[in-house]
Amino acid sequence: MDRNDGVRSILAAYQDAIRAADLSDPVGFDGDHVLTGKSGHKLFGVLQRFGQLWEGKDDACYLEVGVFQGLTLLSVAGAAPRLRSFGIDNFAFFDPNGKNSNIVESRMQDIGVENATIINMDYEDALETFESYCGERKIGVYFVDGPHDYRSQLICLSLALPHLHEQSIIVVDDSNYNHVRQANADFLRTNADWKLLFQAYTPEHPSAMTEGQREEARRGWWNGVNVLVRDPSDQLERVYPPTLRSRERFENDHTVHASRISELAPTALRAADSMLRWNPLSFLRQRVLLEREYRARKRIIRERHRGINTESSALTSGDLTPLRKGVAP
Ligand SMILES: C[S@@+](CC[C@H](N)C(=O)[O-])C[C@H]1O[C@@H](n2cnc3c(N)ncnc32)[C@H](O)[C@@H]1O
Repeated sequence: MDRNDGVRSILAAYQDAIRAADLSDPVGFDGDHVLTGKSGHKLFGVLQRFGQLWEGKDDACYLEVGVFQGLTLLSVAGAAPRLRSFGIDNFAFFDPNGKNSNIVESRMQDIGVENATIINMDYEDALETFESYCGERKIGVYFVDGPHDYRSQLICLSLALPHLHEQSIIVVDDSNYNHVRQANADFLRTNADWKLLFQAYTPEHPSAMTEGQREEARRGWWNGVNVLVRDPSDQLERVYPPTLRSRERFENDHTVHASRISELAPTALRAADSMLRWNPLSFLRQRVLLEREYRARKRIIRERHRGINTESSALTSGDLTPLRKGVAP
């Protein structure tokens, strides 16, 4: 079998797994009824099937960023018990009472999952030191479902590159969002041996749907999915997730970053929106929140310019990087 045949059979196995997940239920296992979370049935069904393709391979593991209460991590670990599985989450979001880490650990015990490890860290720190967890293993299946801002999406993909197995597959959740698709498209454009294998979207976020539509999304791919695969011998057509041609929102990043009140941007946006909708009650609420956030950062905000903040005051005025020790000049 030449190398192309090898790649073709792996691609075919991944394609079969996607078709199976699209047509049938998630893979059942003891205790799966305990699991609830924020992902669609087809989505974790496909993750399980991808995981099963890697079962028993000692040089591989499953990794996800964004565990929440463990639905996807434990569904994969439960359906592929001979696959080492890791989940990175700093439990900083959707966790007002700080309970999610304990929920995942106790679910693991309740359903008898022994092949999953939680890495309670920010994804950037965790990916930079991932070999201290995975040892010699490379990531066979990588699920990206953490912070959804453009940079985090792109960095989740880029920092994982050195840890990915040469036949690995990446699943990116929440690809309904234009900025998530843009990060995937930018990753694909700058890493030519990666291709888009599958994409599925819904016309809007499930939270904006009717209960009936939402139930359908829950049984399906939830908030859109992109599946990326390494295709070193160029067997798949080159397709990119569609994105808006206008880059205006990404360009707005510069204004936000350089503003003296950049950290207040989300509340300021909500305040402006309630003003535009002429909703005085909501506006007042946001105004109070803005005041509170402003007071908490008053000292630092007052030291800044209104815009053009560069955060460069402590930086060198000229610094040549030396050659590494032992490199002849
Ligand atoms: C949508 S939830 C994940 C849903 C989960 N996959 C499931 O099956 O239900 C997103 C998770 O990403 C985590 N997260 C957000 N920013 C993070 C960061 N910088 N580092 C690590 N985890 C982060 C949040 O704490 C949250 O639990």
